[in-house]
Amino acid sequence: MEINLNLNGRAVSASVRPDTLLLDFLRDQGCYSVKRGCETSNCGACTVLLDGRPVLSCSVLAARADGRTVQTLEGLQREAEAFVTYIADQGAEQCGFCNPGFVVNTIALLRENPDPTDQEIRTFLAGNLCRCSGYEGQLRGIRAYLDSRKGGKA
Ligand code: FES
Ligand code: FES
Repeated sequence: MEINLNLNGRAVSASVRPDTLLLDFLRDQGCYSVKRGCETSNCGACTVLLDGRPVLSCSVLAARADGRTVQTLEGLQREAEAFVTYIADQGAEQCGFCNPGFVVNTIALLRENPDPTDQEIRTFLAGNLCRCSGYEGQLRGIRAYLDSRKGGKA
């Protein structure tokens, strides 16, 4: 079947099988930030924005993207740049595999709630698993970014 969508700001038309996963479609389109982790909706590594809302692309059919807007980390660089260095500064990036999904979901959080509490950050990002860290570095990084923004530095 033929699908037409806006992918990271560009119009894309493609032929997909009815059972093609959005994850596979996006990687075929060169969006390698979209990681294949658990493929069972448990790790968050494949998170992308579908019409601005975070979805797990391993559990969405590419056909569902027809007529819609999809953003991957490749198309969210400007929003990501605002805070990723704060996370890196806390040593939260180790192997980096979880990072794209984590960053995309953080963007969704900050769009929805620009000034979240620590508990709200933990709750929103609970579906993004990291095998390397204890999550405290990511939390400290987001907190440092939010604090700097309040101080007018970000
Ligand atoms: S690969 Fe999609 S949630 Fe893990
Ligand atoms: S930094 Fe390795 S899985 Fe998160």
